[in-house]
Amino acid sequence: MIPQYFSHGLEDQLNKITTHGFCVTENFLTPATVLALANEITMLNNAAHMHDAGTGQSKITVNKQLRGDSIYWLNAANSSVAQQTYLAQMEGLRHALNQHLYLGLFALESHMALYPVGSGYQKHLDRFKTNKIKSNDQAVRQISCILYLNQNWLEEYGGHLRLYLNDDDETEHLDIAPMGGRLVLFLSDTFYHEVLPASRIRKSLTGWFLTRG
Ligand code: OGA
Ligand code: MN
Repeated sequence: MIPQYFSHGLEDQLNKITTHGFCVTENFLTPATVLALANEITMLNNAAHMHDAGTGQSKITVNKQLRGDSIYWLNAANSSVAQQTYLAQMEGLRHALNQHLYLGLFALESHMALYPVGSGYQKHLDRFKTNKIKSNDQAVRQISCILYLNQNWLEEYGGHLRLYLNDDDETEHLDIAPMGGRLVLFLSDTFYHEVLPASRIRKSLTGWFLTRG
């Protein structure tokens, strides 16, 4: 992981999004909140409230080779204290991004994700480039925000987020370990990325700030 991409404080985060299109922030939430969110994923999973994640635009299909996680969509009207803390923090970030970068982000959609041992998510973009030519008032993903919830994660467990920095050269990428409290932000229509398989269960909370297409 290249230290120059770590951002310290909100202003630095905004600058790095502007200059690089992405940034990595440590301790986005307190360890206590990160732990509470991780425990909620375990409970939701035990209660069979997580469901297989799909891929696709108009037709969603499940393909475990392509994408192996189970997800739970957050719902602001029915959320735990830890989820409300996350949503409030993200709301602050949304306002700051709008104020400084004029992005017109109007909402956040977010889900918890659990990747079983050995599963991943193959290389993809979070926004289909063709979305741009659809109707004007459609919500599109503008910024992808991934918060990791794994305590005591070690690099050797794998599960890195591989962020591709150059569409023409696959060797130019960053591998970011899913350390608890770490937040990765990137422009949804710009960066191909994938989740590498891990030797431990991998937990995250992924959000997308939306704009009107
Ligand atoms: C996604 C995704 C990356 C990660 O959910 O679209 O790419 O590191 N997640 O969990
Ligand atoms: Mn993605």
